[in-house]
Amino acid sequence: MAAIIIDGKQLSTTKRNELAKEVEQIKEGGLLPKLVVILVGDNPASLSYIRGKKKAAEEIGVGFQLEHYPESLTEKELLDVIESYNNNDEYHGILVQLPLPAHIDETAVVETISPLKDVDGFHPVNIGRMMTGQDTFLPCTPAGIVEMIKSVGVEISGKNVVVVGRSNIVGKPVGQLLLNEHATVTYCHSKTQNLSSYTKDADILVAAVGRANFIKGEDIKPGAVVIDVGVNRLDTGKLCGDVVFDEAKEVASYLTPVPGGVGPMTITMLAHNTVQSAKRFLEGK
Ligand code: GUN
Repeated sequence: MAAIIIDGKQLSTTKRNELAKEVEQIKEGGLLPKLVVILVGDNPASLSYIRGKKKAAEEIGVGFQLEHYPESLTEKELLDVIESYNNNDEYHGILVQLPLPAHIDETAVVETISPLKDVDGFHPVNIGRMMTGQDTFLPCTPAGIVEMIKSVGVEISGKNVVVVGRSNIVGKPVGQLLLNEHATVTYCHSKTQNLSSYTKDADILVAAVGRANFIKGEDIKPGAVVIDVGVNRLDTGKLCGDVVFDEAKEVASYLTPVPGGVGPMTITMLAHNTVQSAKRFLEGK
């Protein structure tokens, strides 16, 4: 039987409508939630992601400011810009678009953003809070994935989850969030031996390797929930995921498409974090 497609675009629209109502209430309380996105250089993928973030902010009524600097910006100059936004009460979310040019230390940048405005959920304080299951900013792609699984009523507790990929942005935190939901989590990566012996045992399979069509139908357990985080551009210009979609849809019970799956939900969770940040500010937390 063909898998049910988890439509990230549709789920995003529902969530964005809910967020728009929350923003209305915050505005009635006298505050405009505002996000600043800081970009250094002209990475085309980053510019495309930022267009999506701006569109989402506009849809839900959140203020959006882009600070776009040339590749030549020094680390010190960037840290000063971040500090100025840390101290600016008009802004509730700060996002520095990654990757950064090689001369800028990403760790220094992430650690300079105030944990109270870290809507990416990348600051070590927020990562620590996530690991201990506290209320905090959750990283957007992992949080979006959990929302997508929950949206179709799939029980996470007790399930075997296999995460393929161990990046700090997706692989590691999505495993942690699913562990927080009481799944049994296995991480696989480029050094894993006999990868398919793990993936074939997964009730929920998260593919976040960044390699086009890496996971085949034969690697998937019949009836599994398959979440495809990959965004790979083929020579033809077409976008494709880490999973062979046409094969997976014959094996899985639920499957996320690329595009239109995890991507829109990531952006929606960024808007969610910005709105939550503004609410906390208003409540004086
Ligand atoms: N580059 C690719 N994905 C992300 C993300 O989620 N946040 C930031 N800041 N940069 C990214």
